[in-house]
Amino acid sequence: MVKDRKLIIAGNWKMNKTVAEALDLVNGIKREVASVKEVDIVVAPPFTALESVSKALLNSNVRLGAQNMSENGPGAFTGEIAATMLKEFSVRYVILGHSERRQYQKESDELIAKKAAAAHASALKPIVCVGETLSEREGGITEKVIGTQVRGSLAGLTREQIEETIVAYEPVWAIGTGKTASSQQAQDVHAFIRKVLVEMFDDATARRVRIQYGGSVKPSNARELMGMPDVDGALVGGAALEARSFADIIRNSI
Ligand code: PGA
Repeated sequence: MVKDRKLIIAGNWKMNKTVAEALDLVNGIKREVASVKEVDIVVAPPFTALESVSKALLNSNVRLGAQNMSENGPGAFTGEIAATMLKEFSVRYVILGHSERRQYQKESDELIAKKAAAAHASALKPIVCVGETLSEREGGITEKVIGTQVRGSLAGLTREQIEETIVAYEPVWAIGTGKTASSQQAQDVHAFIRKVLVEMFDDATARRVRIQYGGSVKPSNARELMGMPDVDGALVGGAALEARSFADIIRNSI
């Protein structure tokens, strides 16, 4: 299906892969997707593998992402990583506000907005995650929750910056559970997110923002999800840990 927004498919490796395992995986992915031009492809290994993976990706069509970064510049912030440090390894994208960080590290929309601004200040493209929990969906407040997260996490960005930002809709109940949102459920929330972006920015700008779906994306459901009009890519966890399945998701999306 031809869309005016280029699909972007990213693998979020989470806290997986030693350096040796990361190199195996990235070399496999590189081989599998070498001829793909229709999709922006991103892998986000853990920090400890960024340097090796970055070298392995030289002159390839796969771009590098990180899974988090500090909202601060370099300084006395023990255990944190600054955007400038990611730039050293040619990182282009950074996942921000993943639901696991919202849950375990108590990241707030306000903090995520600061991180998004810091990412742009270093010319990194943020992938800003939003998503409702099962009880929120069952309670009928999905749009209220998503609206608050989108407005809060993207607060203060300029039109130029939002166009270089990717929004990832990841229903928490679909992450790592094998339960995917139906393509219609995904489309409905993506369309809603785009409506919020119209209100925050303007129609033409909102139409240029890419919105990824994440949550149990696999080769078998990628085609249908990517076929929805407002679904512009995928953020893939479990199925991105194996070169063949990640590549099949990409191939099935074209
Ligand atoms: P999953 O994770 O594909 O394993 O459900 C997606 C994510 O958390 O980004």
